[in-house]
Amino acid sequence: MQLDEALGLITEIPDFPEPGVLFRDLSPLFAHGDGFAAVTDALAATVEPDVELLAAVEARGFMLAAAVGYARGLGVVLVRKPGKLPLVAGRVHYDLEYGTAALELPDKVVHAGARVAVVDDVLATGGTVNAACRLLEDAGATVAGVSVVLELAALDGRSALGGRKVSSLQLA
Ligand code: PRP
Ligand code: HPA
Repeated sequence: MQLDEALGLITEIPDFPEPGVLFRDLSPLFAHGDGFAAVTDALAATVEPDVELLAAVEARGFMLAAAVGYARGLGVVLVRKPGKLPLVAGRVHYDLEYGTAALELPDKVVHAGARVAVVDDVLATGGTVNAACRLLEDAGATVAGVSVVLELAALDGRSALGGRKVSSLQLA
């Protein structure tokens, strides 16, 4: 399947999770074998050759990073919502398009100096991915890039990410 056709499987749901938000639902894309493969291959191609590890943001980032990691022969560190990890290297609180949240990095997984690429499904305000980047950088890693399927341009998540390299498969 062509990448454009795969990205066309993403649907728009008005007023979710609250009035005024136009939610992009990737569920039909994730459930389509050829569509998921096309997106996985395209995301895998955005990861720089010198990357040593992928960082996946809970929850939808997990499945994408797992697939990309398999495609590229890379492991994945799971950046998790609080209360899930027994050994925590750090926690960062951040604002979402709707609400607030926090993320944690597992301890003793990311080594200082590691070149890590962050993988997630959607870049909206950038708060989530920025939090993941901060956790990785606090652990001494270098964020070599951020790879997402969909970037919501109106929310300007790139600005929240400073000068970090961002690759998105689709701008909406
Ligand atoms: C969504 C999405 C991104 C984030 C994007 O995750 O998967 O991680 O929001 O928003 P931002 O750029 O404004 O931070 P959500 O926290 O809804 O969790 P989920 O993956 O567990 O559904
Ligand atoms: N879709 C999926 N995840 C999101 C969105 C969206 O529109 N906005 C913020 N996170």
